Amino acid sequence: MSEVRPTVLIDEATIAAKVAELAAQIDRDYAGVDELILVGVLKGAFIFLADLSRKLTIPRAVDFIALSTYANSTTTGAVRMIMDLRRNIEGKHVLVVEDIVDTGHTLAYLMKNLATRQPASLACCALVRKAERTEVEVPLRYLGFDIPNVWVVGYGLDWAERFRTLPYIGVVTPEA
Ligand code: IMP
Ligand code: MG
Repeated sequence: MSEVRPTVLIDEATIAAKVAELAAQIDRDYAGVDELILVGVLKGAFIFLADLSRKLTIPRAVDFIALSTYANSTTTGAVRMIMDLRRNIEGKHVLVVEDIVDTGHTLAYLMKNLATRQPASLACCALVRKAERTEVEVPLRYLGFDIPNVWVVGYGLDWAERFRTLPYIGVVTPEA
């Protein structure tokens, strides 16, 4: 088996600056709101959510949801829920925190699902998006970076469960 070595696409300092910028925008937009519920999408968003939530100054709470795209169904984009929120979000301000938007099917499913629970407001913050892969358009109120169509790892993102805890976002290219 050949060694897989990620190359840096977005370094640690660039991520930290962007997370701070996003947090400042969210602070401004939700100023005066009694509580913002941050919904982290497991597993990939756990590091982004940890950093983003600690940069915020508005009253906030953290909850998690786990989704999975059915194996071998990337063309249909069928999504299933593995773990639901603990909290009832009816009447609450909700911000979904996603690591990556690829085709958009996962986020489209999630936003539709959460909207039926009648939150006071519902928006999404994604760290990265592969714009050229979009199949379903999902409005992102906050976006960190648009990236090319490459497989990225680190900062929560994995390649077959590897590399999630890298401090930067890297690209994996299996060496010949
Ligand atoms: P979707 O195609 O937008 O539904 O994205 C489905 C899921 O695929 C994302 O939430 C990620 O978990 C995963 N994914 C897509 N592209 C990448 C990548 O480049 N690295 C790691 N995970 C990815
Ligand atoms: Mg994800």
